[in-house]
Amino acid sequence: MNIRKAVIPAAGFGTRFLPASKALPKEMLNVVDKPLIQYCVEEAAGSGLDKIGIVTSRGKAVLEDHFDRCPELEALLEEKGQVDLLEEVRRVQGLAEITAIRQPQALGLGHAILMGETFVAGEPFAALTPDDIYDCETPCTRQLVEVFLEKQATVIVLGRVDREGTKKYGIVKPKPLSDRIFRILDMAEKPGPEKAFSDLGILGRYVFTPEIFDDIRETPPDGRGEIQITDAIRLHLRSRPVYGLLFEGRRFDCGDKFGYLEATVRLALKRPEFRDRFRSLLESALND
Ligand code: G1P
Repeated sequence: MNIRKAVIPAAGFGTRFLPASKALPKEMLNVVDKPLIQYCVEEAAGSGLDKIGIVTSRGKAVLEDHFDRCPELEALLEEKGQVDLLEEVRRVQGLAEITAIRQPQALGLGHAILMGETFVAGEPFAALTPDDIYDCETPCTRQLVEVFLEKQATVIVLGRVDREGTKKYGIVKPKPLSDRIFRILDMAEKPGPEKAFSDLGILGRYVFTPEIFDDIRETPPDGRGEIQITDAIRLHLRSRPVYGLLFEGRRFDCGDKFGYLEATVRLALKRPEFRDRFRSLLESALND
C-alpha cells in the first residue's frame, strides 16, 4: 500500500524556547526565511505526501493561516508587480492539502498522533515533528517511505547520538539487516547513558501502519502523565515488525536553542544570495 498522508504534531507549549514561544507558536520560529513548520510541510510534500494533518492547540491557528490562501495579499503583490513574492506565496499555499486537527490537552506525542486517527482513516501514514529540520538530498521522510514500501511495516528514522543524546531521544535496541536498515527489537524513551541499548536515537520521523492507533490507546501515561509514542511503538513491536533506517543527510535539532542556531548558520551559508556576505560576517564577528 502506498502512503499519501502525514501527521505533524504541533500542539506543544514549546517550553524549551521560552520566552520566544510564549505568544508565538514555536513552529512559527523563523530559520533563514521560513518558519519551522514550513520546512516540515515541504519535506512531507517533497516525499510525495500531499495530505497533511497538522495537530494544533489553542492559540495556534496561525499555523493553518500560514498555508491558507490570502486573496488580499495576492491582489496586493499582483498590483505592485512583485511577481517573485507572489509566486512564492502561491507555492507555499499549494504545497499540500492541509487539515487542522485539534489536540484539546497537551498529553504527549503519542496522544497528539492519536488525534490524527480520523484524518488518517485506516491508511499507513508518516509522522514528522517540526522540531527537526532535515537537510537531505532525498527528503528524510521519502527515505523512510522507500523502506515502508518494501517492508509494509512501521519504519522509524535513526541517527547516532552521543551520551547526552541518550537523555534527549528515544533509543532503540537494533538488529542490523544491512548498513542502514535495522530490525528493532526494543526501545526506551530517553533512558540516559547507563540504560541505553545503543547509540541509535529516534529522531522525529516515523512511518506507521494504522494499527499504531490501537497501540497508542493501550499505552499508559508515563510519570508526567504523557502518552509517549516510544511506549506505543514498544507495544506495537509485540505483534508486528518495526524497522529503523539510518538516514542519509543532515539533521538540525531545532527543539533546542543551540540546534536552532546551528540550523540558521548552516542553512544561511548554503544560500547563494547570502553565502559570501554571511561568511564574511561570521569571520568578522569571530574576531570581535
Ligand atoms: C520526542 C520523542 C522521542 C524522540 C524525539 C525526537 O521527544 O518522544 O522519542 O527521540 O521526539 O525529536 P521530545 O523531543 O518531544 O521530548
